[in-house]
Amino acid sequence: MKVIAINGSPKPKGNTYLALKTACDELEKQSIETEIIHVGNMEIKGCISCGRCTEGHCVFSDEKLRGIVDKIHEADGLLLGSPVYYASIAGTMKCFLDRLFYPSRGRMRLKVGAAVAVLRRSGGVTTFDQLNNYFLISEMMVAPSFYWNAVHGAAPGEVFEDAEGISGLKNLANNMAWMLNIKEYSKDSYPVPEPVERAWTNFVR
Ligand SMILES: Cc1cc2nc3c(=O)[nH]c(=O)nc-3n(C[C@H](O)[C@H](O)[C@H](O)COP(=O)(O)O)c2cc1C
Repeated sequence: MKVIAINGSPKPKGNTYLALKTACDELEKQSIETEIIHVGNMEIKGCISCGRCTEGHCVFSDEKLRGIVDKIHEADGLLLGSPVYYASIAGTMKCFLDRLFYPSRGRMRLKVGAAVAVLRRSGGVTTFDQLNNYFLISEMMVAPSFYWNAVHGAAPGEVFEDAEGISGLKNLANNMAWMLNIKEYSKDSYPVPEPVERAWTNFVR
């Protein structure tokens, strides 16, 4: 089983990376393969709502972006990490997520997801909620921990001073591993259900 972790910070080895690495190290201890992919330094424009998504991809994605999206489609779990910018997901990460999830059309269904917001002081829960919105509208199973996953630090490395936040990430990883194993070991006896046919309306008609 494999989990792809997405670093949404412009910094390759900042606090977001360190938070993701903390969770990934725990997943690896539970024999879950992990790969941290850095997208926060890429040039990713926002979705332009052209409606021309094809086979799970944004029509404008280059080979690199397609490769990342393919890896996520193939993985069993997805771990999202974003620094908090103005109480929100950082801009490039937001562009990436819109272009990952909007074309996905069922490809994320019942994968296991988990999110962490990384911040200096305030705006962690709003950002955490925003990240979880992608999982929940895509029918993913969201791994829990004993707090809403937000870890604090400003300069790279400070995140390790947030002992409660770091312990929450380790707990999150353990719970995520458990969910992945439950799904894997029950796949024959209790396969994922077929989706109900969706009624598509713009609110009422
Ligand atoms: C443009 C910008 C906006 C930010 N906005 C917030 C904010 O709203 N709340 C907060 O607590 N920290 C904010 N920060 C601080 C970062 O979230 C914090 O330094 C975080 O650790 C960065 O993670 P990184 O090292 O992975 O880049 C902001 C930083 C930048 C550059």
